[in-house]
Amino acid sequence: MSKGIRVAALDDIPEGEGIAVGKELTGTGDGIALLRDTDGSVWALDDTCTHEDASLADGWVEDGFVECPLHASRFCLKNGEVQGLPATKSTCPHRVEVRDGEVYLFPGEAP
Ligand code: FES
Repeated sequence: MSKGIRVAALDDIPEGEGIAVGKELTGTGDGIALLRDTDGSVWALDDTCTHEDASLADGWVEDGFVECPLHASRFCLKNGEVQGLPATKSTCPHRVEVRDGEVYLFPGEAP
């Protein structure tokens, strides 16, 4: 079983914010946004918004959702489901684990 890719220290991601992990590292078609909720938990979604080209890693993370920085559609951190126009397509979630203060990403694996 995969051990995942170490992509950040937990302290690198402030609560309520995100960081982008490039597709060169993830091996996926899009980069992946690591998103830290206001309760301290970490989640991962495809980085590019399904509406246009905004990076969800630049969005606002709060109470289980990330809000796109461009037109404010919201996506569920757990399953990528879109909530609110203008985006109409959900995004793809990826599994994340935090071990000993380090964040490991499992690109393409369901959370
Ligand atoms: S680019 Fe994200 S809602 Fe428009």
